[in-house]
Amino acid sequence: MCGIVGAVALRNVTPILLEGLHRLEYRGYDSAGLALLNRQGGLQRVRAMGKVAELEKALATSPAKGHLGIAHTRWATHGKPAEHNAHPHLSERLAVVHNGIIENHASLRRKLTELGYSFNSDTDTEVIAHLLAHHYQHKQDLLSAFRATLNELHGAYALGVIHQDEPDNLYCARMGSPLVIGVGSEEQFIASDPLALLQVTDQFIYLEEGDHARLTLAGHEVWSSNNQVLSYPVKRYEHAAHSLDKGEYRHFMLKEIFEQPKAIADTLEGKLADNQVLTAILGPEAENRLADIQNIHIVACGTSYHAGLVARYWIEEQAGIACQVEVASEYRYRTVSVPANTLLVTISQSGETADTLAALRYAKKQNYLGTLAICNVAGSSLVREAGWRLLTQAGPEIGVASTKAFTTQLVALLWLTTALAQAKQRAPEIINANVRALRNLPGLVEQVLQLEPGIEQLAQSFAGKHHALFLGRGPHYPVAMEGALKLKEISYIHAEAYAAGELKHGPLALVDEDMPVVSVAPSDSLLEKLKSNLEEVRARGGQLINFACERAGLETSEGVTHIELPWVYDSVSPIVYTLPLQLLSYHVALVKGTDVDKPRNLAKSVTVE
Ligand code: G6P
Repeated sequence: MCGIVGAVALRNVTPILLEGLHRLEYRGYDSAGLALLNRQGGLQRVRAMGKVAELEKALATSPAKGHLGIAHTRWATHGKPAEHNAHPHLSERLAVVHNGIIENHASLRRKLTELGYSFNSDTDTEVIAHLLAHHYQHKQDLLSAFRATLNELHGAYALGVIHQDEPDNLYCARMGSPLVIGVGSEEQFIASDPLALLQVTDQFIYLEEGDHARLTLAGHEVWSSNNQVLSYPVKRYEHAAHSLDKGEYRHFMLKEIFEQPKAIADTLEGKLADNQVLTAILGPEAENRLADIQNIHIVACGTSYHAGLVARYWIEEQAGIACQVEVASEYRYRTVSVPANTLLVTISQSGETADTLAALRYAKKQNYLGTLAICNVAGSSLVREAGWRLLTQAGPEIGVASTKAFTTQLVALLWLTTALAQAKQRAPEIINANVRALRNLPGLVEQVLQLEPGIEQLAQSFAGKHHALFLGRGPHYPVAMEGALKLKEISYIHAEAYAAGELKHGPLALVDEDMPVVSVAPSDSLLEKLKSNLEEVRARGGQLINFACERAGLETSEGVTHIELPWVYDSVSPIVYTLPLQLLSYHVALVKGTDVDKPRNLAKSVTVE
């Protein structure tokens, strides 16, 4: 999705802005641009379609330097991807970059057109530039004009603004889209994601909804939506130690797949004792209320939603708590019935997904016992707004296709299930077994990742395929859903997942030799049922690929390939069986020659609805 970087410094900020944009590339975008102010040359703007590298090429022909600047990567919402729609947008002597969507842009555009402003783009953002220029003409004071502009905007925004008349000031604001201030020594920055600024600072101020700010070399002033002066603590970025390059790996996705043993170990750190889980990490209020929870509603999007679907099986079986799981974009717009003592759980890698955040805000107005965010980013909006938090420690995830964030979410959810079982005094064997399985998990994951060469070979058989089916049962059905999502995200093969028992209710009609069928076949209580479903596929000439437990006893025959996994304890099995599916989609994408880390049309962090 769109990204913002801005800087005010004594030095030329062009390299800082470009490096920031590079660091935001993983989020997905279609064009990039920047605007710079210097005391000699005035306001300069350079924009380019495509990658940040294209912007760099454009800058090589028309160099732009300045001590104050704003930059942007755009992911089209209003107006097709095109240079004239790329940010920054100008009006008179000012420039604006914007993330989010201005919902009343059409009426503002009409009003500004009547006032004589002409539009050079199809974006909603350009109305902000003209509206600000209009208010500035009347007020002759940029801060007041900025405030008057913000008061007229409906929708979501993170904004960066510079104006030739105030060459020492960088203005910004946030409402519904993330924005941080980066604090340097005699230099200040803004960005939509702290990652963009880690080359210049690890000190951040996280703006809250409705805040606006003015940055100068000397520091920053922050105000609330009703213009009250605010003083926020400066926080050190927690993932600063993580490496943000690919190292020896060809893609971030592969690096992140192989980081899973460490990410899982980090997520479990300080949370396990000998025969129990340590719940103090949730904070005293949450810890004291665990035993009261009678229902759980889980709300999330994309891969995080799949993590919730797996957790439902665990929570209902092991903690005896009723659990429902829903995508946030549906949940937020319906009337939800909330039984007494229900916990709302949101799951998000980024903590900035617009629908998940809106779902949390909606839930906070309902009668929930508490709201818990399971999230990978400590300073994110979701974490700050939820009542309770449980952080995963996956480190920054750059590949658009989520891998280590998913498995660490599952680890956090299995830990939560165990904490609930413990609080409800369920059978101690469940708790002991989960603690043991979690403790051994990083080693097991390491072992399963060694299956890569066999999976790489197998990926060749997908070369000419356009469709694939994924089958699973029980908690491995959502694992199959996640496998199908990974394959379609990065290899563009149409893939669907079915609960294996549903096969004969429709999808079996699709099965022939051109339809690879991938099954997730651990050695659990549903294995015999699954075997019958696989026979149904074989009988119709379908090519079967089984990721199966070495003890499953599946027979090898023509058209059937097995990749064998070690026997694992039931609870952690969905986590372990996710790994070969990640590797399969990665290697199929290599065979297909797609852009693995930045698949077309997708964004890492979906900060608009
Ligand atoms: C986007 C990403 C997915 C992710 C989903 C939810 O669609 O491409 O990988 O699962 O958003 O993101 P979140 O950050 O809330 O987990």
